[in-house]
Amino acid sequence: MTILQASQETIRAAGAALRGGALVAFPTETVYGLGADATNGRAVAAIFAAKGRPRFNPLIVHVFDLDAAARLGCLTDSGRQLAAVFWPGALTLVVAKQPRCPVADLATAGLDTIALRVPAHPFARALLSAAARPVAAPSANRSGHVSATTAAHVEADLGERVSVILDGGPTPIGLESTVVDATDGEPMILRLGGLAQESMERVLRRPLALARDAPGRPASPGMLARHYAPAARLRLDAGEVRAGEALLAFGPTVPKHAAATINLSPSGDLVEAAANLFSALRALDAAGAQAIAVMPIPHWGLGAAINDRLQRAARSP
Ligand code: TXA
Ligand code: MG
Repeated sequence: MTILQASQETIRAAGAALRGGALVAFPTETVYGLGADATNGRAVAAIFAAKGRPRFNPLIVHVFDLDAAARLGCLTDSGRQLAAVFWPGALTLVVAKQPRCPVADLATAGLDTIALRVPAHPFARALLSAAARPVAAPSANRSGHVSATTAAHVEADLGERVSVILDGGPTPIGLESTVVDATDGEPMILRLGGLAQESMERVLRRPLALARDAPGRPASPGMLARHYAPAARLRLDAGEVRAGEALLAFGPTVPKHAAATINLSPSGDLVEAAANLFSALRALDAAGAQAIAVMPIPHWGLGAAINDRLQRAARSP
């Protein structure tokens, strides 16, 4: 891991590292982000591994400007109204994904929606420009820890789990961005943050509802979000394939005679498996599978999050 003082040269190098699939921590005006090329499923999986996240929460995808955002997501009128005033800035908009959105399924946790943000910090902007692609970035801290607001915090928390830390000094806002669900005409705040509710209400000229999962307790947007659930029935920890079943395989030794087989990782690599998970489920659905046998996935590393996701998918009707 290297800590780089931001300069034209180091930002160019950090942009190249991102394009090469490495993790780069960078300052935004809210908190430091742990960035990866959003179009590279493996790089996105490495974010979850580095954070030690127990679940695949959807990540915020950072882009340089409104045009880049509109290529990835379908901006609604309310979304455009907010973006016109608060981008670049501490606003994250959740909107429907564009049909041909190149962002990896894992970055959006398999959802049909995408969280987009145009950051204002000059180093973040320079990095996005150098990387020339969307950058998925959660806050640059280990799961369960508070968000990092200095390069030293990032280093203390993530250490060798990150390739490059771009040091831009302390982040000016120090609070995460405000997340607004703008998928339809009834925008709703999913997470309070660095952009005040009142400022947005003035622009929209209406009160904004706040998503809550219980009285007095703010909802966790990642949990509220309806994750992608396959139409097919899932049978977990399958040692064999039954008649008519498709197979979601893992590792080198794969049962034969499945209606269709997708191997999450023939070499048994959990990072690769995570990167392939959501697109594999979609592909087996598209192949018309009614039932999917899922081979056992080890429970360590990203395996815990993969199993969490599979168990949810297996439970959903
Ligand atoms: O300030 C910030 O927002 C920082 C900087 C780096 O941009 N990022 C950040 O990311 O805090 P993260 O991953 O820690 O938080 C992302 C939030 C989560 O609450 C997640 O559930 C929500 O955004 N989110 C992302 N995609 C979503 C989606 N499609 N639907 C609903 N919520 C979503
Ligand atoms: Mg966070």
